[in-house]
Amino acid sequence: MDIQTYQQLSALVADQIIAKIKQKPDCCLGLPTGHTPIGTYKSLVEQSANGQVDWSRVRCFALDDYLEVDASFSFQSFLQNNLYDKVNASRQNLFNPTMVDNYDGLIAANGGLDLTILGIGANGHIAFNEPGTCLQSWTHCSFLTSSTKLANQDAFGSQEVPDRGITMGIKTIMESRSITLIASGEKKRGIVESAFRGPITNEVPASLLQEHKTLSVITDFGFMLSTAN
Ligand code: GLP
Repeated sequence: MDIQTYQQLSALVADQIIAKIKQKPDCCLGLPTGHTPIGTYKSLVEQSANGQVDWSRVRCFALDDYLEVDASFSFQSFLQNNLYDKVNASRQNLFNPTMVDNYDGLIAANGGLDLTILGIGANGHIAFNEPGTCLQSWTHCSFLTSSTKLANQDAFGSQEVPDRGITMGIKTIMESRSITLIASGEKKRGIVESAFRGPITNEVPASLLQEHKTLSVITDFGFMLSTAN
């Protein structure tokens, strides 16, 4: 499929998520925040109206969140405002790494992630796995780089972006049965090309995904990749 606009990208990713829910009504989803997935959530909400998609058994796992942040700025609030409150998701199925000591154990106890959607940071971060994070990392606390803080500043207005987050690790993400990474806009072209055409290196965390067997990269600037057979 030829994707040329943000709207097409969003619709395609929403369709992937809906297809997964229809195939496995109690599937586990790994869900991102950021600007990029907003259109996907909008499309999901529209397509779920009037009970067209049943979210009641779907388990949603936020990829990451800030530590020590006012609840209104948390990624959990973001997901609530953009998705959870607008579909028939069940409150007890909405998880976040700040809620438990052992997020990886919780994911495993729920059967493991079936589909994880990721954005990509300007420095190649995925979730809050900043450059230098190792392939073997499980859910952990991470110190945010200044470029990540700057990219996320608009959501905080004049307040300071927290220094620390808690995030699924690279290993947590790599264990997901399938992964879709989304990127929108020319400003992401360079980092997407280095992540998926360049060497696999911890310095560009997204590049570690090259080794995943069921990875899709979907962009609206002509870069597409699928490792699924
Ligand atoms: C944040 C999130 C990431 C997200 C990234 C890119 O740092 N923790 O999960 O992928 O931002 O966000 P955007 O889509 O706004 O470019």
